[in-house]
Amino acid sequence: MTPVVLMRTSGGPDTFRSRTLRDRLVRVAEAAVTPLVPADVLDIFDPLRSGADLRGRIVSVTAETADSATILVKPGKDWAGHVPGQYLRVGVDVDGVRLWRTYSLTHGPRADRCISITIKAIPDGKVSNHLVRHAQAGQLLHLGQAEGDFVLSDPMPDKLLLVTAGSGVTPVIGMLRNLFSKAAPLATDIVLLHSALSRSEVIFGEELRRYAEEGRLRLVELHTDTDGMLDVADLDQIVPDLASRTTYACGPVGLLDALEAHHTERELPLHIERFRTAVVATGEDGQSGGSVTFAKSGITVEGDGSTPILDAAEAGGVLMPSGCRMGVCFGCVLPLREGVVRDLRNGALTVAAPGDGVAIQTCISAAAGACHIDH
Ligand SMILES: Cc1cc2nc3c(=O)[nH]c(=O)nc-3n(C[C@H](O)[C@H](O)[C@H](O)COP(=O)(O)OP(=O)(O)OC[C@H]3O[C@@H](n4cnc5c(N)ncnc54)[C@H](O)[C@@H]3O)c2cc1C
Ligand code: FES
Repeated sequence: MTPVVLMRTSGGPDTFRSRTLRDRLVRVAEAAVTPLVPADVLDIFDPLRSGADLRGRIVSVTAETADSATILVKPGKDWAGHVPGQYLRVGVDVDGVRLWRTYSLTHGPRADRCISITIKAIPDGKVSNHLVRHAQAGQLLHLGQAEGDFVLSDPMPDKLLLVTAGSGVTPVIGMLRNLFSKAAPLATDIVLLHSALSRSEVIFGEELRRYAEEGRLRLVELHTDTDGMLDVADLDQIVPDLASRTTYACGPVGLLDALEAHHTERELPLHIERFRTAVVATGEDGQSGGSVTFAKSGITVEGDGSTPILDAAEAGGVLMPSGCRMGVCFGCVLPLREGVVRDLRNGALTVAAPGDGVAIQTCISAAAGACHIDH
């Protein structure tokens, strides 16, 4: 008879005994909760453990302005950290549907390893309103790892211009908190030009004003209800040494487009973070859309040629994978089995012959004919 050899992988007898005990407990748990598997049980008792899908538990929700709040989150053990200025995907269940959106990380260095995001509720916004008005300490959020290249260069430029508007201040506050936490004095000269509807609408207003009083940066606040919108033609007047500064900007599409044109013409260095994609191509002018059929659910929705397939599908009740909703994270990619889609950013058409599996980003693609998607 072949002898049975019990092997220890590592550790002493206690480790071995505790493993055996743990194995037995897992088997008991398995029997007790069938048809759940032990991983499901661990998800309930230890959702933040290493090896689980990345999640975070809300530690606190703090109002910043009437419409915005900062959510402090204890991330799962597999959270790999971030570079200030980066964002992460956040998945939240709203009315029983898991919706994914993208939020910039706003915290500075923290001994407790917690991370924070700051959300501005937008009119009719599903996730932003849910997070700002209904999120509570103790709730779990689904998380992605940090992504994005809107980060300060290393070494830092001698002179920085930060142009932000509304919630566009979020990636920049993360940068500032990290810079100002360092013991060594900062060599970089920083101007922050921030636009908001009014003084009380300035997210992180008190903190930014304190930085200015302490001489850490020059703050130029523009309150658009009294001062009007920022006109990039006024930049030279507001920041006389503009030509010697590297600009980082985050805000509404119109402001970023104007800055891009202004800086490109003058060949000035500019880094931009967009929260929404600039749509240039639509299904107007005879470029009609088509029906979009989802193979697995059997649901067919109408795509009008200018609505992203992601939006049309969600409106039609299809549960879709997503993330940034603007073409950068690839969280929405699905195979197009047959049909034609148009890239809303540049009008380019992608054609799939029957049986193909061409990967398309549903958040920036609109139907340009009947489409069949493998989902
Ligand atoms: C890289 C990146 C970082 C981001 N960081 C932040 C952040 O730190 N804080 C923050 O508050 N938001 C941030 N956003 C925006 C965020 O991801 C969501 O788009 C926003 O919260 C709206 O989601 P919603 O579900 O509430 O709106 P939805 O229900 O998706 O949309 C509701 C309506 O608002 C429109 N809409 C969608 N997004 C915007 C928008 N950003 N501005 C104006 N109208 C919009 C839609 O077209 C629709 O008509 C970021 C986006 C990206 C791509
Ligand atoms: S959702 Fe991010 S690329 Fe489409």
